[in-house]
Amino acid sequence: MVEEFSHLPVMAREVVELLSAMPGGLIIDCTVGGGGHSAVLLDARPDVHVLGLDRDVDAVEAARSRLARFGDRAKVVHGRFEQLGRLVEQHGEGEMAMGILMDLGVSSAQLDRPERGFSYRFDAPLDMRMDSKQLLTATDVVNDYEESDLATVISQYGEERFARRIAHAIVGARPVRTTRELAEIVRDAIPAATRRRGPHPARRTFQAIRMEVNRELPNLADGLDESVHVIGPRGRVLVLAYHSLEDRMVKETFARWAGDDADRDVPAKLPVLPSRPHGLARVLTRKPMRPSAAEVAANPRAESARLRAVERLSDVPGSEVADTDFPNDVA
Ligand SMILES: C[S@@+](CC[C@H](N)C(=O)[O-])C[C@H]1O[C@@H](n2cnc3c(N)ncnc32)[C@H](O)[C@@H]1O
Repeated sequence: MVEEFSHLPVMAREVVELLSAMPGGLIIDCTVGGGGHSAVLLDARPDVHVLGLDRDVDAVEAARSRLARFGDRAKVVHGRFEQLGRLVEQHGEGEMAMGILMDLGVSSAQLDRPERGFSYRFDAPLDMRMDSKQLLTATDVVNDYEESDLATVISQYGEERFARRIAHAIVGARPVRTTRELAEIVRDAIPAATRRRGPHPARRTFQAIRMEVNRELPNLADGLDESVHVIGPRGRVLVLAYHSLEDRMVKETFARWAGDDADRDVPAKLPVLPSRPHGLARVLTRKPMRPSAAEVAANPRAESARLRAVERLSDVPGSEVADTDFPNDVA
């Protein structure tokens, strides 16, 4: 199984550059996958060690094998980044992180294994779970959701303009058991003229159902909240997002940490501005970084990547803020 895990790390050069200024110490690779980014970072920085997490046991096994040459500089555990604080306490001996990386979405290895049921390119039972111990599968979402809920999922996570037609067609065709059946139902629900342009007509719907099955957006919110508790002074948090909703969430969260969202929700005529927390962090990427044309040519899956980074300030003014938002700090 391990040798089949192939995934090219996206924007690896930019990730290394962004982490080159941080002090040595612990890097948490929250989405270790096949260990691609971790290996590049461990090679580039002899003064760091990595704690890698993944919710997929196949990925954990693959990353352990790939990172074995780094000995005790690399530790890989099965877990979810929504539980980052607890995992760092358990496996990182409570050390604050100097770098945190989240490379969101699905890995090539997950997409390319037919039996995982992620892809419309193969015929397999509808599964799409990143963590095979989880109960909810794509079969449940496709067959049990109300039509209106299914349409919302497909519209929001798939950014699919024919979401209502697709949801209606799926409900009419139930039970839907395999990826091929679903791909055909979606294709037939989309107007013929649209079908002929662009990528596979089922791509957006499959992405949407995968994001719902794995609760990817709510988990990202929780993971970002957790990361603020474990990042040390001058440490950096980097997120590679592949979906506009994820990128927006990252951007808004970083702005909040930096105190840059001060104008938001404040009526223009309010005589006294409500007191806002001071900045806890400095945003390093006002605009997201994008992969080079050469990288996209070599690895088309990098195309939608957006990389954002933030640095925690070493001296956070306002003790009430430091206590609340960085409770692991040693005074
Ligand atoms: C794009 S891949 C990462 C690839 C990796 N950076 C590499 O270079 O090999 C994303 C990985 O994140 C994992 N993942 C997604 N959501 C997660 C979560 N909430 N907690 C932990 N791992 C997660 C997936 O199982 C998948 O293996």
